[in-house]
Amino acid sequence: MPETNIAPSDVLDRVLVLEMVRVTEKAAISASALIGRGDEKAADAAAVEAMRDALNSLYMDGTVVIGEGERDEAPMLFIGEKVGSAPGKGPKIDIALDPLEGTTITAKAGPNALAVLAAAEGGNLLNAPDTYMDKIAVGPGYPEGVIDLTKSATENVHALAAAKGVAPNEIIACVLDRPRHEKLIAELRAMGCGVMLIGDGDVAGVIATTDPDTGIDIYLGQGGAPEGVLAAAALRCVGGQFQGRLVFRNDDERARARKWGIEDLDRVYHLNDLVKGDCIFAATGVTDGSLLGGVKRKAGGRLTTESIVMRASTGTVRWVKGEHRIR
Ligand code: FBP
Repeated sequence: MPETNIAPSDVLDRVLVLEMVRVTEKAAISASALIGRGDEKAADAAAVEAMRDALNSLYMDGTVVIGEGERDEAPMLFIGEKVGSAPGKGPKIDIALDPLEGTTITAKAGPNALAVLAAAEGGNLLNAPDTYMDKIAVGPGYPEGVIDLTKSATENVHALAAAKGVAPNEIIACVLDRPRHEKLIAELRAMGCGVMLIGDGDVAGVIATTDPDTGIDIYLGQGGAPEGVLAAAALRCVGGQFQGRLVFRNDDERARARKWGIEDLDRVYHLNDLVKGDCIFAATGVTDGSLLGGVKRKAGGRLTTESIVMRASTGTVRWVKGEHRIR
């Protein structure tokens, strides 16, 4: 069950929840013109620019805490960039964003590319460095602690299967299709589990555990840390369990983490460590996927979008279908 005792944030009240959908819609629509065009950079740039414009039209004193990279590597929506039309006056909002989650997917017209963001009161989102994160997630309805990142995949699958009342070989796991996951995939298959391998897009992969229609019971493996915070925001709204631990490949990455105030580099983060208090999560499909349909261009100069927006304090999940005129 999602938490039911999250106090509503007055600050978030003042930024209309639905406005966040307009932001992800705009990013998704812009990126959609580049679907299947083989140009990841152009697709990402289109989404970034549109999302930035849309954020800057909102009445808030916003700060990007998870964005396109550090100031020297990202011209727009870099970490620390101020967004919103009311700096110093409007509500102080921290924003984690990924204007195009799945740049390669978009370039290749594959499934599950999203425009996505999470918003919370200032100070409530983990400033995750751009490193990898070991992740484990399950949907709602299981006893707290059924998953444990410090245990093996085998132990986690056995605990989950027992809680679900099925045999371990009936558990379906979602894993990013990467050479680094060879051992994990072999361990899961040795138990007879079904393994759904995804090419990219682990925000959608984690959220898929919350929807019984996907058949996915558990998400396992290493993906981007920023994507971990975004997925955690979604799970805080719909329920489910998530744990993440930062993975560092070199001293430079460790130094980056320390720069963002992270002292305990081995810490296992739970949902409430990644996202505190009330939060809003919004996403719009760029390409068709398990969570949302993608942007569709219709005859007569119109296009349609599918989005989801949810809020932790109320637990309200809104599915928003938009029809837009192409300007
Ligand atoms: P991009 O949109 O930045 O390409 O990220 C896609 C993604 O698949 C994420 O969903 C995932 O967390 C990360 O890349 C995994 O990283 P890598 O491709 O290096 O394994």
